[in-house]
Amino acid sequence: MADSKPLEEQIMAQLGTVIEPELHRDLVTLDMIRDLTVEGGKAAFTIVLTTPACPLKDQIQREATEAVLRVPGIEAVDIKLDSQVTTDGRIRGRLNLDIANIVAVSSGKGGVGKSTVASNLAIALRRSGAAVGLLDADILGPNQPLLMGLNERPLFSGEKLVPLEAYDVRVMSMGFLVEPGKALIWRGPMLHGAIRQLLTDVEWGTLDYLVVDLPPGTSDAQLSLAQSVPLTGAIIVTQPQQVAADDALRGLAMFEQVNVPIIGVVENMSGEVFGTGGGQALATAAGVPFLGSVPLDPQVRIGGDAGQPIVVVAPDSEAAQALIQIAQEVAARVSVINFEQRDNVIPINTIG
Ligand SMILES: Nc1ncnc2c1ncn2[C@@H]1O[C@H](COP(=O)(O)OP(=O)(O)OP(=O)(O)O)[C@@H](O)[C@H]1O
Ligand SMILES: [Mg+2]
Repeated sequence: MADSKPLEEQIMAQLGTVIEPELHRDLVTLDMIRDLTVEGGKAAFTIVLTTPACPLKDQIQREATEAVLRVPGIEAVDIKLDSQVTTDGRIRGRLNLDIANIVAVSSGKGGVGKSTVASNLAIALRRSGAAVGLLDADILGPNQPLLMGLNERPLFSGEKLVPLEAYDVRVMSMGFLVEPGKALIWRGPMLHGAIRQLLTDVEWGTLDYLVVDLPPGTSDAQLSLAQSVPLTGAIIVTQPQQVAADDALRGLAMFEQVNVPIIGVVENMSGEVFGTGGGQALATAAGVPFLGSVPLDPQVRIGGDAGQPIVVVAPDSEAAQALIQIAQEVAARVSVINFEQRDNVIPINTIG
Protein backbone atom coordinates (compact mmCIF):
# COMPACT_ATOMS: atom_id res chain seq x y z
CA MET A 1 0.00 0.00 0.00
CA ALA A 2 1.32 3.42 -0.94
CA ASP A 3 2.22 5.81 1.87
CA SER A 4 -0.46 8.46 2.14
CA LYS A 5 1.84 11.10 3.65
CA PRO A 6 2.82 14.03 1.43
CA LEU A 7 5.88 13.31 -0.70
CA GLU A 8 7.90 16.04 1.02
CA GLU A 9 7.34 14.38 4.36
CA GLN A 10 8.34 10.98 3.01
CA ILE A 11 11.49 12.46 1.49
CA MET A 12 12.46 14.14 4.77
CA ALA A 13 11.84 10.85 6.59
CA GLN A 14 14.25 9.12 4.21
CA LEU A 15 16.85 11.87 4.57
CA GLY A 16 16.51 11.40 8.30
CA THR A 17 18.14 8.00 7.84
CA VAL A 18 21.27 9.42 6.17
CA ILE A 19 24.02 9.90 8.72
CA GLU A 20 26.66 12.60 8.36
CA PRO A 21 29.75 10.40 8.71
CA GLU A 22 31.82 12.82 10.82
CA LEU A 23 29.12 14.25 13.04
CA HIS A 24 27.30 10.92 13.47
CA ARG A 25 23.89 12.50 13.25
CA ASP A 26 21.35 12.50 10.45
CA LEU A 27 21.02 15.24 7.85
CA VAL A 28 17.58 16.33 9.07
CA THR A 29 18.57 16.60 12.74
CA LEU A 30 21.60 18.62 11.64
CA ASP A 31 19.27 20.93 9.67
CA MET A 32 21.33 20.38 6.55
CA ILE A 33 18.39 20.07 4.13
CA ARG A 34 17.05 23.26 2.54
CA ASP A 35 14.70 24.33 -0.24
CA LEU A 36 13.06 20.99 -0.88
CA THR A 37 10.74 20.93 -3.88
CA VAL A 38 9.01 18.07 -5.66
CA GLU A 39 7.80 18.31 -9.23
CA GLY A 40 6.71 15.53 -11.55
CA GLY A 41 8.61 12.76 -9.78
CA LYS A 42 11.74 14.85 -9.32
CA ALA A 43 12.94 15.96 -5.89
CA ALA A 44 15.30 18.94 -5.66
CA PHE A 45 17.00 20.28 -2.53
CA THR A 46 20.19 21.76 -1.11
CA ILE A 47 22.47 20.05 1.40
CA VAL A 48 24.24 22.61 3.56
CA LEU A 49 27.57 21.07 4.62
CA THR A 50 29.45 22.25 7.70
CA THR A 51 32.49 23.16 5.59
CA PRO A 52 33.18 23.56 1.89
CA ALA A 53 36.26 21.39 2.50
CA CYS A 54 34.07 18.46 3.54
CA PRO A 55 36.04 15.34 2.57
CA LEU A 56 32.94 13.16 2.41
CA LYS A 57 30.62 15.30 0.34
CA ASP A 58 30.44 12.77 -2.49
CA GLN A 59 29.44 10.04 -0.08
CA ILE A 60 26.80 12.24 1.57
CA GLN A 61 25.36 13.21 -1.80
CA ARG A 62 25.28 9.60 -2.98
CA GLU A 63 23.60 8.29 0.17
CA ALA A 64 21.04 11.11 0.13
CA THR A 65 20.21 10.33 -3.51
CA GLU A 66 19.77 6.63 -2.78
CA ALA A 67 17.57 7.38 0.24
CA VAL A 68 15.27 9.74 -1.63
CA LEU A 69 14.90 7.36 -4.57
CA ARG A 70 13.37 4.89 -2.09
CA VAL A 71 10.28 7.09 -1.89
CA PRO A 72 7.61 5.67 -4.25
CA GLY A 73 6.91 8.12 -7.03
CA ILE A 74 10.36 9.78 -6.95
CA GLU A 75 12.39 9.02 -10.05
CA ALA A 76 15.02 11.73 -10.07
CA VAL A 77 16.96 13.64 -7.44
CA ASP A 78 18.70 16.97 -7.97
CA ILE A 79 20.99 17.94 -5.10
CA LYS A 80 22.86 21.21 -4.76
CA LEU A 81 25.71 21.39 -2.27
CA ASP A 82 26.26 24.49 -0.20
CA SER A 83 28.13 25.06 3.01
CA GLN A 84 28.06 27.11 6.13
CA VAL A 85 31.09 26.78 8.38
CA THR A 86 30.27 26.08 12.02
CA THR A 87 31.55 28.11 14.95
CA ASP A 88 31.28 27.95 18.71
CA GLY A 89 30.77 31.72 18.70
CA ARG A 90 33.51 32.48 21.20
CA ILE A 91 35.73 34.57 18.94
CA ARG A 92 32.89 36.86 18.03
CA GLY A 93 31.64 36.92 21.60
CA ARG A 94 34.94 37.62 23.32
CA LEU A 95 36.98 39.51 20.74
CA ASN A 96 34.24 40.97 18.58
CA LEU A 97 35.93 39.55 15.48
CA ASP A 98 33.95 37.98 12.66
CA ILE A 99 36.09 34.85 12.67
CA ALA A 100 34.35 31.49 12.90
CA ASN A 101 37.35 29.34 13.90
CA ILE A 102 40.96 29.81 14.99
CA VAL A 103 43.19 26.84 14.25
CA ALA A 104 46.64 26.86 15.86
CA VAL A 105 49.52 25.04 14.18
CA SER A 106 52.08 24.09 16.76
CA SER A 107 55.06 21.83 17.40
CA GLY A 108 57.09 20.76 20.38
CA LYS A 109 60.35 21.76 18.71
CA GLY A 110 61.53 24.07 15.97
CA GLY A 111 62.20 23.31 12.35
CA VAL A 112 59.70 20.49 11.92
CA GLY A 113 57.78 22.33 9.20
CA LYS A 114 55.08 24.05 11.20
CA SER A 115 55.11 27.21 9.09
CA THR A 116 55.17 25.20 5.88
CA VAL A 117 52.18 23.16 7.00
CA ALA A 118 50.37 26.33 8.15
CA SER A 119 50.76 28.19 4.84
CA ASN A 120 49.78 25.21 2.69
CA LEU A 121 46.87 24.39 4.94
CA ALA A 122 45.58 27.96 4.72
CA ILE A 123 45.77 27.95 0.92
CA ALA A 124 44.16 24.50 0.65
CA LEU A 125 41.26 25.59 2.85
CA ARG A 126 40.88 28.75 0.78
CA ARG A 127 40.82 26.76 -2.43
CA SER A 128 38.04 24.59 -1.07
CA GLY A 129 35.93 27.75 -0.95
CA ALA A 130 36.39 28.98 2.63
CA ALA A 131 37.45 32.50 3.65
CA VAL A 132 40.86 32.10 5.28
CA GLY A 133 43.40 34.17 7.17
CA LEU A 134 46.93 33.28 8.24
CA LEU A 135 48.38 34.82 11.38
CA ASP A 136 52.09 34.43 11.90
CA ALA A 137 52.35 34.39 15.68
CA ASP A 138 56.07 33.69 15.61
CA ILE A 139 57.02 37.22 16.66
CA LEU A 140 60.75 36.62 17.00
CA GLY A 141 61.23 34.42 13.94
CA PRO A 142 58.42 35.09 11.49
CA ASN A 143 58.47 32.66 8.52
CA GLN A 144 55.28 33.59 6.69
CA PRO A 145 56.54 36.64 4.74
CA LEU A 146 59.05 34.39 2.96
CA LEU A 147 56.75 31.37 2.59
CA MET A 148 53.85 33.43 1.22
CA GLY A 149 56.10 35.66 -0.88
CA LEU A 150 55.04 38.90 0.79
CA ASN A 151 57.28 41.83 1.63
CA GLU A 152 55.19 44.98 1.46
CA ARG A 153 54.21 46.97 4.49
CA PRO A 154 50.57 46.72 5.49
CA LEU A 155 48.46 49.88 5.45
CA PHE A 156 46.15 51.17 8.14
CA SER A 157 42.42 51.44 7.77
CA GLY A 158 41.45 53.73 10.63
CA GLU A 159 42.97 52.17 13.74
CA LYS A 160 43.39 48.75 12.23
CA LEU A 161 46.07 47.19 10.05
CA VAL A 162 44.93 45.76 6.73
CA PRO A 163 46.33 42.25 6.19
CA LEU A 164 48.36 41.58 3.08
CA GLU A 165 47.01 39.01 0.65
CA ALA A 166 48.69 36.09 -1.08
CA TYR A 167 46.94 33.27 -2.91
CA ASP A 168 43.69 34.83 -1.75
CA VAL A 169 44.62 34.29 1.92
CA ARG A 170 44.78 37.31 4.27
CA VAL A 171 48.13 37.31 6.04
CA MET A 172 49.55 39.23 9.00
CA SER A 173 53.04 38.83 10.41
CA MET A 174 55.38 40.79 12.62
CA GLY A 175 57.78 40.33 9.74
CA PHE A 176 55.79 42.95 7.81
CA LEU A 177 56.27 45.51 10.58
CA VAL A 178 59.94 45.30 11.50
CA GLU A 179 63.04 45.91 9.42
CA PRO A 180 64.34 42.66 7.99
CA GLY A 181 67.35 41.42 9.92
CA LYS A 182 66.59 43.51 13.00
CA ALA A 183 66.13 41.13 15.90
CA LEU A 184 63.34 41.78 18.32
CA ILE A 185 64.28 41.41 21.95
CA TRP A 186 60.79 41.23 23.37
CA ARG A 187 59.98 38.78 26.09
CA GLY A 188 57.06 37.32 28.02
CA PRO A 189 54.26 39.85 28.44
CA MET A 190 55.36 42.01 25.51
CA LEU A 191 55.33 39.01 23.21
CA HIS A 192 51.94 38.03 24.45
CA GLY A 193 50.66 41.55 23.84
CA ALA A 194 52.10 41.56 20.33
CA ILE A 195 50.40 38.31 19.35
CA ARG A 196 47.12 39.54 20.69
CA GLN A 197 47.47 42.80 18.81
CA LEU A 198 48.17 40.98 15.57
CA LEU A 199 44.86 39.27 16.15
CA THR A 200 42.65 42.07 17.45
CA ASP A 201 44.12 45.17 15.75
CA VAL A 202 43.91 43.74 12.24
CA GLU A 203 41.06 44.16 9.79
CA TRP A 204 40.52 40.45 9.14
CA GLY A 205 37.00 40.86 7.84
CA THR A 206 34.83 37.75 7.82
CA LEU A 207 36.80 34.53 8.06
CA ASP A 208 35.78 30.89 8.24
CA TYR A 209 39.24 29.84 9.43
CA LEU A 210 42.16 31.78 10.83
CA VAL A 211 45.24 29.56 10.75
CA VAL A 212 47.79 30.60 13.38
CA ASP A 213 51.45 29.68 12.93
CA LEU A 214 52.75 29.43 16.48
CA PRO A 215 56.36 29.80 17.61
CA PRO A 216 58.01 26.45 18.39
CA GLY A 217 58.08 24.82 21.80
CA THR A 218 56.01 24.99 24.92
CA SER A 219 57.18 28.31 26.31
CA ASP A 220 55.17 31.14 27.84
CA ALA A 221 54.22 32.58 24.47
CA GLN A 222 52.23 29.52 23.43
CA LEU A 223 50.71 29.01 26.80
CA SER A 224 49.52 32.58 27.12
CA LEU A 225 48.19 32.57 23.57
CA ALA A 226 46.33 29.36 24.25
CA GLN A 227 44.81 30.92 27.34
CA SER A 228 44.00 34.38 26.02
CA VAL A 229 42.65 33.54 22.57
CA PRO A 230 39.63 31.28 22.09
CA LEU A 231 41.36 28.66 19.96
CA THR A 232 39.02 26.22 18.25
CA GLY A 233 41.76 23.64 18.37
CA ALA A 234 45.43 22.89 17.85
CA ILE A 235 47.27 20.87 15.22
CA ILE A 236 50.51 19.28 16.36
CA VAL A 237 53.20 18.94 13.69
CA THR A 238 55.91 16.39 14.31
CA GLN A 239 58.65 14.63 12.42
CA PRO A 240 58.51 10.84 12.20
CA GLN A 241 61.42 10.07 14.51
CA GLN A 242 60.96 9.29 18.18
CA VAL A 243 62.72 12.32 19.66
CA ALA A 244 60.53 14.72 17.67
CA ALA A 245 57.45 12.83 18.74
CA ASP A 246 58.47 13.12 22.40
CA ASP A 247 58.68 16.90 22.06
CA ALA A 248 55.34 16.88 20.29
CA LEU A 249 53.81 14.98 23.19
CA ARG A 250 54.84 17.80 25.53
CA GLY A 251 53.24 20.32 23.19
CA LEU A 252 50.10 18.26 23.09
CA ALA A 253 49.94 18.04 26.86
CA MET A 254 50.26 21.82 27.12
CA PHE A 255 47.13 22.39 25.04
CA GLU A 256 45.19 19.75 26.93
CA GLN A 257 46.21 21.42 30.18
CA VAL A 258 44.51 24.66 29.09
CA ASN A 259 41.52 22.84 27.56
CA VAL A 260 42.31 23.52 23.93
CA PRO A 261 40.97 20.61 21.85
CA ILE A 262 43.57 18.75 19.79
CA ILE A 263 42.51 18.68 16.13
CA GLY A 264 45.13 16.06 15.43
CA VAL A 265 48.72 15.20 14.59
CA VAL A 266 50.45 15.87 11.27
CA GLU A 267 53.61 13.97 10.48
CA ASN A 268 55.92 16.02 8.27
CA MET A 269 59.06 15.06 6.35
CA SER A 270 58.32 11.35 6.35
CA GLY A 271 60.33 9.09 4.10
CA GLU A 272 63.76 7.54 3.93
CA VAL A 273 65.64 10.20 5.89
CA PHE A 274 63.54 10.48 9.04
CA GLY A 275 61.52 7.31 8.70
CA THR A 276 57.78 7.09 8.96
CA GLY A 277 55.13 6.21 11.53
CA GLY A 278 56.08 8.48 14.44
CA GLY A 279 53.11 10.76 13.89
CA GLN A 280 50.63 7.91 13.87
CA ALA A 281 52.28 6.40 16.95
CA LEU A 282 52.08 9.72 18.77
CA ALA A 283 48.42 10.17 17.86
CA THR A 284 47.60 6.66 19.03
CA ALA A 285 49.53 7.09 22.29
CA ALA A 286 47.82 10.41 23.00
CA GLY A 287 44.38 9.22 21.87
CA VAL A 288 43.97 11.99 19.29
CA PRO A 289 43.29 11.81 15.53
CA PHE A 290 46.11 11.32 13.06
CA LEU A 291 45.56 13.79 10.22
CA GLY A 292 48.11 12.53 7.72
CA SER A 293 51.70 12.33 6.68
CA VAL A 294 53.56 14.74 4.36
CA PRO A 295 56.60 13.25 2.61
CA LEU A 296 60.01 14.88 2.65
CA ASP A 297 60.26 16.46 -0.79
CA PRO A 298 62.86 19.02 -1.92
CA GLN A 299 60.13 20.76 -3.93
CA VAL A 300 58.46 21.73 -0.66
CA ARG A 301 61.55 23.61 0.50
CA ILE A 302 62.32 25.14 -2.89
CA GLY A 303 58.75 26.40 -3.25
CA GLY A 304 58.72 27.68 0.31
CA ASP A 305 61.92 29.64 -0.18
CA ALA A 306 60.47 31.22 -3.31
CA GLY A 307 57.16 32.23 -1.73
CA GLN A 308 55.37 29.56 -3.74
CA PRO A 309 53.84 26.91 -1.49
CA ILE A 310 53.72 23.37 -2.86
CA VAL A 311 49.91 23.25 -3.06
CA VAL A 312 50.19 26.14 -5.53
CA VAL A 313 53.19 25.15 -7.64
CA ALA A 314 52.79 21.38 -7.69
CA PRO A 315 49.25 20.58 -6.57
CA ASP A 316 49.47 17.06 -7.99
CA SER A 317 52.64 16.13 -6.10
CA GLU A 318 52.36 13.60 -3.31
CA ALA A 319 53.23 16.24 -0.72
CA ALA A 320 50.62 18.70 -1.97
CA GLN A 321 47.96 16.00 -2.17
CA ALA A 322 48.74 15.01 1.41
CA LEU A 323 48.42 18.64 2.55
CA ILE A 324 45.13 19.10 0.68
CA GLN A 325 43.73 15.98 2.30
CA ILE A 326 44.96 17.11 5.71
CA ALA A 327 43.15 20.43 5.18
CA GLN A 328 39.91 18.52 4.59
CA GLU A 329 40.48 16.44 7.70
CA VAL A 330 41.12 19.61 9.70
CA ALA A 331 37.91 21.21 8.42
CA ALA A 332 35.91 18.11 9.26
CA ARG A 333 37.44 17.88 12.74
CA VAL A 334 36.67 21.55 13.40
CA SER A 335 33.00 20.86 12.60
CA VAL A 336 33.04 17.91 14.99
CA ILE A 337 34.72 19.95 17.75
CA ASN A 338 32.14 22.71 17.37
CA PHE A 339 29.33 20.19 17.68
CA GLU A 340 30.95 18.50 20.65
CA GLN A 341 31.28 21.85 22.40
CA ARG A 342 27.53 22.09 22.63
CA ASP A 343 25.20 20.20 24.88
CA ASN A 344 22.59 19.90 22.19
CA VAL A 345 22.69 20.24 18.46
CA ILE A 346 21.96 23.80 17.48
CA PRO A 347 20.60 24.12 13.94
CA ILE A 348 23.36 25.38 11.66
CA ASN A 349 21.38 28.39 10.52
CA THR A 350 21.19 29.82 14.01
CA ILE A 351 24.94 29.75 14.59
CA GLY A 352 25.99 33.24 14.05
N1 LIG B 1 57.79 18.08 3.72
C1 LIG B 1 58.92 18.79 3.55
N2 LIG B 1 59.84 18.40 2.66
C2 LIG B 1 61.00 19.10 2.48
N3 LIG B 1 61.31 20.21 3.15
C3 LIG B 1 60.42 20.66 4.04
C4 LIG B 1 59.18 19.98 4.30
N4 LIG B 1 58.52 20.68 5.25
C5 LIG B 1 59.27 21.73 5.57
N5 LIG B 1 60.42 21.72 4.87
C6 LIG B 1 61.54 22.68 4.96
O1 LIG B 1 62.09 22.56 6.27
C7 LIG B 1 62.49 23.83 6.76
C8 LIG B 1 61.75 24.12 8.08
O2 LIG B 1 60.38 24.26 7.80
P1 LIG B 1 59.51 25.39 8.52
O3 LIG B 1 60.17 26.69 8.46
O4 LIG B 1 58.14 25.27 7.97
O5 LIG B 1 59.56 24.80 9.99
P2 LIG B 1 59.08 25.46 11.36
O6 LIG B 1 58.66 24.34 12.23
O7 LIG B 1 58.10 26.53 11.11
O8 LIG B 1 60.43 26.09 11.86
P3 LIG B 1 60.63 27.17 13.05
O9 LIG B 1 60.49 26.39 14.29
O10 LIG B 1 62.04 27.65 12.80
O11 LIG B 1 59.60 28.21 12.90
C9 LIG B 1 62.17 24.82 5.66
O12 LIG B 1 63.32 25.01 4.89
C10 LIG B 1 61.10 24.11 4.84
O13 LIG B 1 61.08 24.53 3.49
MG1 LIG C 1 58.14 28.52 11.64
